[in-house]
Amino acid sequence: MTKFDQDSLFPATAMPDAEWWKQLWPRPELVLRKVCIRPGMRAVDLCCGDGMFTAPMARMLEGRVIGVDIDPAMLSRAKRHVKKQGAPACTWVQGDARSLPDLLDEKVDAVLIANTFHGIPDKAEMVRAVKKVLNPGGLFIVINWHAQPREETTVLGHARGPATEMRMTPVEVSKMVEAEGFALETVAELPPYHYGAVFRLPE
Ligand SMILES: C[S@@+](CC[C@H](N)C(=O)[O-])C[C@H]1O[C@@H](n2cnc3c(N)ncnc32)[C@H](O)[C@@H]1O
Repeated sequence: MTKFDQDSLFPATAMPDAEWWKQLWPRPELVLRKVCIRPGMRAVDLCCGDGMFTAPMARMLEGRVIGVDIDPAMLSRAKRHVKKQGAPACTWVQGDARSLPDLLDEKVDAVLIANTFHGIPDKAEMVRAVKKVLNPGGLFIVINWHAQPREETTVLGHARGPATEMRMTPVEVSKMVEAEGFALETVAELPPYHYGAVFRLPE
Protein backbone atom coordinates (compact mmCIF):
# COMPACT_ATOMS: atom_id res chain seq x y z
CA MET A 1 0.00 0.00 0.00
CA THR A 2 1.38 3.45 -0.92
CA LYS A 3 2.16 5.51 2.14
CA PHE A 4 0.77 9.00 2.57
CA ASP A 5 1.27 11.78 5.07
CA GLN A 6 -1.53 11.56 7.66
CA ASP A 7 -1.08 15.28 8.30
CA SER A 8 -2.39 15.93 4.77
CA LEU A 9 -5.81 14.49 5.65
CA PHE A 10 -8.41 17.24 5.95
CA PRO A 11 -9.69 17.50 9.54
CA ALA A 12 -13.00 15.79 10.37
CA THR A 13 -13.21 13.88 7.09
CA ALA A 14 -12.75 10.26 8.18
CA MET A 15 -14.93 7.81 6.24
CA PRO A 16 -18.08 7.15 8.33
CA ASP A 17 -19.09 3.62 9.38
CA ALA A 18 -20.91 1.85 6.57
CA GLU A 19 -23.90 0.89 8.72
CA TRP A 20 -25.24 4.38 9.32
CA TRP A 21 -23.79 5.86 6.11
CA LYS A 22 -25.89 3.47 3.98
CA GLN A 23 -28.94 4.32 6.05
CA LEU A 24 -28.38 8.02 5.35
CA TRP A 25 -27.72 7.57 1.61
CA PRO A 26 -30.04 4.79 0.42
CA ARG A 27 -30.10 5.94 -3.25
CA PRO A 28 -26.84 7.71 -4.19
CA GLU A 29 -27.74 7.53 -7.90
CA LEU A 30 -30.77 9.78 -7.28
CA VAL A 31 -28.54 12.25 -5.46
CA LEU A 32 -26.26 12.45 -8.51
CA ARG A 33 -29.22 13.34 -10.73
CA LYS A 34 -30.35 16.04 -8.32
CA VAL A 35 -26.91 17.65 -8.40
CA CYS A 36 -26.85 17.76 -12.21
CA ILE A 37 -24.52 14.86 -13.08
CA ARG A 38 -25.59 13.89 -16.59
CA PRO A 39 -24.69 11.17 -19.12
CA GLY A 40 -21.95 12.28 -21.51
CA MET A 41 -19.94 14.06 -18.84
CA ARG A 42 -16.43 13.17 -17.72
CA ALA A 43 -16.23 13.76 -13.98
CA VAL A 44 -14.06 13.57 -10.87
CA ASP A 45 -15.30 12.18 -7.56
CA LEU A 46 -12.93 14.17 -5.37
CA CYS A 47 -12.21 12.62 -1.95
CA CYS A 48 -14.19 9.61 -3.12
CA GLY A 49 -13.81 7.56 0.07
CA ASP A 50 -15.19 4.04 -0.34
CA GLY A 51 -16.85 4.85 -3.66
CA MET A 52 -20.47 5.25 -2.61
CA PHE A 53 -20.98 8.01 -5.20
CA THR A 54 -18.26 6.79 -7.58
CA ALA A 55 -20.09 3.57 -8.44
CA PRO A 56 -23.37 5.14 -9.63
CA MET A 57 -21.35 7.89 -11.34
CA ALA A 58 -19.38 5.26 -13.24
CA ARG A 59 -22.63 3.64 -14.30
CA MET A 60 -24.22 6.91 -15.44
CA LEU A 61 -21.06 8.16 -17.18
CA GLU A 62 -20.04 4.79 -18.65
CA GLY A 63 -16.76 4.73 -16.74
CA ARG A 64 -15.69 8.29 -17.58
CA VAL A 65 -15.01 8.90 -13.89
CA ILE A 66 -11.83 9.58 -11.96
CA GLY A 67 -11.96 8.71 -8.26
CA VAL A 68 -9.41 10.68 -6.24
CA ASP A 69 -8.52 10.10 -2.60
CA ILE A 70 -5.38 10.58 -0.57
CA ASP A 71 -5.84 7.31 1.32
CA PRO A 72 -4.91 4.21 -0.68
CA ALA A 73 -7.04 2.05 1.64
CA MET A 74 -10.07 4.11 0.58
CA LEU A 75 -9.22 3.68 -3.08
CA SER A 76 -8.98 -0.10 -2.60
CA ARG A 77 -12.40 -0.12 -0.96
CA ALA A 78 -13.82 2.09 -3.71
CA LYS A 79 -12.47 -0.19 -6.45
CA ARG A 80 -14.02 -3.22 -4.74
CA HIS A 81 -17.34 -1.40 -4.34
CA VAL A 82 -17.48 -0.35 -8.00
CA LYS A 83 -16.76 -3.94 -9.06
CA LYS A 84 -19.33 -5.38 -6.65
CA GLN A 85 -21.95 -2.95 -7.97
CA GLY A 86 -21.24 -4.14 -11.51
CA ALA A 87 -20.40 -0.59 -12.61
CA PRO A 88 -17.90 0.06 -15.42
CA ALA A 89 -14.27 0.37 -14.32
CA CYS A 90 -13.10 3.91 -13.68
CA THR A 91 -9.73 5.59 -13.24
CA TRP A 92 -8.29 5.86 -9.73
CA VAL A 93 -5.77 8.43 -8.57
CA GLN A 94 -4.14 8.60 -5.18
CA GLY A 95 -3.25 12.13 -4.19
CA ASP A 96 -3.99 15.27 -2.26
CA ALA A 97 -7.12 17.01 -3.50
CA ARG A 98 -5.28 20.33 -3.38
CA SER A 99 -2.93 19.06 -6.13
CA LEU A 100 -5.81 18.16 -8.43
CA PRO A 101 -4.40 19.94 -11.51
CA ASP A 102 -1.24 17.81 -11.24
CA LEU A 103 -3.25 14.60 -10.84
CA LEU A 104 -5.32 14.77 -14.04
CA ASP A 105 -4.25 14.34 -17.67
CA GLU A 106 -7.24 16.14 -19.15
CA LYS A 107 -9.88 18.63 -18.10
CA VAL A 108 -13.28 17.36 -16.96
CA ASP A 109 -16.91 18.48 -17.12
CA ALA A 110 -17.69 18.14 -13.41
CA VAL A 111 -15.97 17.83 -10.04
CA LEU A 112 -18.04 16.47 -7.15
CA ILE A 113 -16.85 16.79 -3.57
CA ALA A 114 -19.14 15.13 -1.06
CA ASN A 115 -18.98 15.30 2.72
CA THR A 116 -15.48 16.77 2.75
CA PHE A 117 -15.53 20.48 1.86
CA HIS A 118 -16.30 21.46 5.48
CA GLY A 119 -12.89 20.15 6.60
CA ILE A 120 -10.65 21.84 4.02
CA PRO A 121 -8.49 24.43 5.77
CA ASP A 122 -8.01 26.74 2.75
CA LYS A 123 -11.24 26.45 0.80
CA ALA A 124 -10.44 29.23 -1.67
CA GLU A 125 -7.24 27.40 -2.67
CA MET A 126 -9.30 24.23 -3.23
CA VAL A 127 -11.84 26.08 -5.40
CA ARG A 128 -9.01 27.55 -7.51
CA ALA A 129 -7.55 24.06 -8.01
CA VAL A 130 -10.96 22.77 -9.15
CA LYS A 131 -11.33 25.72 -11.52
CA LYS A 132 -8.09 24.77 -13.26
CA VAL A 133 -9.33 21.27 -14.16
CA LEU A 134 -12.81 22.18 -15.43
CA ASN A 135 -13.77 22.69 -19.05
CA PRO A 136 -15.57 25.97 -19.82
CA GLY A 137 -19.14 25.59 -18.55
CA GLY A 138 -18.06 22.81 -16.20
CA LEU A 139 -19.70 22.11 -12.84
CA PHE A 140 -18.32 22.19 -9.31
CA ILE A 141 -20.67 20.33 -6.98
CA VAL A 142 -20.41 20.53 -3.20
CA ILE A 143 -22.47 18.12 -1.10
CA ASN A 144 -22.45 19.26 2.52
CA TRP A 145 -24.20 18.68 5.80
CA HIS A 146 -26.66 21.47 6.52
CA ALA A 147 -25.54 23.93 9.21
CA GLN A 148 -27.79 22.36 11.84
CA PRO A 149 -26.65 21.64 15.39
CA ARG A 150 -24.92 18.24 15.36
CA GLU A 151 -27.21 16.88 18.07
CA GLU A 152 -30.16 17.31 15.67
CA THR A 153 -28.63 15.25 12.83
CA THR A 154 -29.20 11.77 14.20
CA VAL A 155 -28.94 8.50 12.30
CA LEU A 156 -29.63 5.14 13.95
CA GLY A 157 -30.08 6.87 17.29
CA HIS A 158 -26.80 8.83 17.40
CA ALA A 159 -25.77 12.38 16.50
CA ARG A 160 -23.68 12.21 13.28
CA GLY A 161 -21.59 14.39 11.02
CA PRO A 162 -19.03 17.14 11.55
CA ALA A 163 -19.04 19.40 14.60
CA THR A 164 -21.68 22.11 14.47
CA GLU A 165 -19.08 24.88 14.15
CA MET A 166 -17.56 23.31 11.01
CA ARG A 167 -20.83 23.22 9.08
CA MET A 168 -21.58 25.75 6.35
CA THR A 169 -24.80 27.14 4.96
CA PRO A 170 -25.34 27.11 1.19
CA VAL A 171 -24.96 30.91 1.29
CA GLU A 172 -21.54 30.65 2.94
CA VAL A 173 -20.36 28.10 0.37
CA SER A 174 -21.75 30.20 -2.47
CA LYS A 175 -19.94 33.35 -1.35
CA MET A 176 -16.66 31.44 -1.27
CA VAL A 177 -17.06 29.66 -4.60
CA GLU A 178 -18.54 32.63 -6.46
CA ALA A 179 -15.58 34.76 -5.32
CA GLU A 180 -13.41 32.52 -7.53
CA GLY A 181 -15.52 33.15 -10.65
CA PHE A 182 -18.19 30.46 -10.53
CA ALA A 183 -21.94 31.13 -10.78
CA LEU A 184 -24.42 29.33 -8.55
CA GLU A 185 -26.67 27.13 -10.69
CA THR A 186 -28.85 25.49 -8.04
CA VAL A 187 -29.00 24.27 -4.48
CA ALA A 188 -30.61 20.83 -4.31
CA GLU A 189 -32.12 19.62 -1.05
CA LEU A 190 -30.82 16.16 -0.14
CA PRO A 191 -32.94 15.12 2.83
CA PRO A 192 -32.72 14.55 5.66
CA TYR A 193 -29.58 16.58 6.46
CA HIS A 194 -27.70 17.57 3.30
CA TYR A 195 -27.72 19.95 0.39
CA GLY A 196 -25.90 19.92 -2.92
CA ALA A 197 -24.68 23.29 -4.18
CA VAL A 198 -24.00 23.27 -7.93
CA PHE A 199 -21.74 25.94 -9.44
CA ARG A 200 -20.95 26.54 -13.10
CA LEU A 201 -17.80 27.94 -14.60
CA PRO A 202 -18.58 30.52 -17.31
CA GLU A 203 -18.31 29.25 -20.94
C1 LIG B 1 -16.03 11.78 4.83
S1 LIG B 1 -15.19 10.87 3.56
C2 LIG B 1 -16.33 11.15 2.22
C3 LIG B 1 -16.25 10.09 1.16
C4 LIG B 1 -17.26 10.21 0.02
N1 LIG B 1 -17.09 11.45 -0.70
C5 LIG B 1 -18.69 10.09 0.52
O1 LIG B 1 -19.39 11.11 0.57
O2 LIG B 1 -19.11 8.98 0.87
C6 LIG B 1 -13.82 11.96 3.15
C7 LIG B 1 -12.72 11.36 2.30
O3 LIG B 1 -11.79 12.41 1.99
C8 LIG B 1 -10.50 11.85 1.94
N2 LIG B 1 -9.51 12.93 2.14
C9 LIG B 1 -9.24 13.60 3.29
N3 LIG B 1 -8.29 14.52 3.08
C10 LIG B 1 -7.93 14.44 1.77
C11 LIG B 1 -7.00 15.15 0.96
N4 LIG B 1 -6.21 16.10 1.44
N5 LIG B 1 -6.95 14.82 -0.36
C12 LIG B 1 -7.73 13.83 -0.89
N6 LIG B 1 -8.59 13.11 -0.15
C13 LIG B 1 -8.72 13.42 1.17
C14 LIG B 1 -10.50 10.81 3.05
O4 LIG B 1 -9.48 9.85 2.86
C15 LIG B 1 -11.92 10.24 2.94
O5 LIG B 1 -11.94 9.11 2.13
